Amino acid sequence: MRIILLGAPGAGKGTQAQFLMGKYDIPQISTGDMLRAAIKAGTEMGLAAKKVMDEGKLVSDDIIIGLVKERIAQPDCKNGFLLDGFPRTIPQADAMVENGVEIDHVIEFDVPDDVIVGRMAGRRVHPSSGRVYHIVYNPPKVEGKDDITGEDLVIRPDDEEATVRKRLGVYHEQTEPLVAYYKAQAENGQCQFHRLDGTAQVSDVSKTLAALLG
Ligand code: AP5
Ligand code: ZN
Repeated sequence: MRIILLGAPGAGKGTQAQFLMGKYDIPQISTGDMLRAAIKAGTEMGLAAKKVMDEGKLVSDDIIIGLVKERIAQPDCKNGFLLDGFPRTIPQADAMVENGVEIDHVIEFDVPDDVIVGRMAGRRVHPSSGRVYHIVYNPPKVEGKDDITGEDLVIRPDDEEATVRKRLGVYHEQTEPLVAYYKAQAENGQCQFHRLDGTAQVSDVSKTLAALLG
């Protein structure tokens, strides 16, 4: 199954990706996690991306398209994958069509901006696995520690309120047009498009997803 998770920063894409990976046994491809790994490794691309990410802007389409193309070619993507945070612009979506990458389901997470700002303030992440928590809505078993490894959780540098508001602006301007793009694809029978209420509890959003995807 090839799935795109589409939604604003903080809409819950990463959280539900963890659920879907387990349920359908397909890898999560999070361009944000890939970029953060490049920053940690100190690569030239990582250093350039860090500046852009800290400002809440988008990394260039060329870099992102190259990263995803290489990742999708890996053997573990043969039976499908979960795209989390990609595509984020029309050129990124066009690149998939040009490369013959077909998509089964596009899922839009609908969450109002004000709810998102509240969520980001409480987000904690486990960088090496991509597992995501919230101090109130989805707390780890032990405060500040990842449930599986026991390693420390961290706050993402771009979760400061001013940066979150900038990221939301970028989402509405550059990514939201993909809703119409994929609705049109769905009308042509190229994929299925679903919109879900992302404000429900984490477990209820998972149930809705399982029902949609079968
Ligand atoms: P990226 O890492 O992709 O961030 P994002 O899209 O902004 O999304 P987030 O990871 O912030 O949110 P999410 O939807 O995964 O929510 P989460 O599940 O964590 O990108 C970061 C940066 O990298 C970009 O700004 C850009 O610079 C660059 N980049 C990445 N991809 C790119 C691309 N394709 N092109 C160009 N640049 C790119 O949940 C958020 C919080 O809410 C958590 O605390 C969680 O526990 C909680 N939560 C989740 N669901 C619920 C719920 N149902 N109820 C209550 N709380 C919930
Ligand atoms: Zn995420």
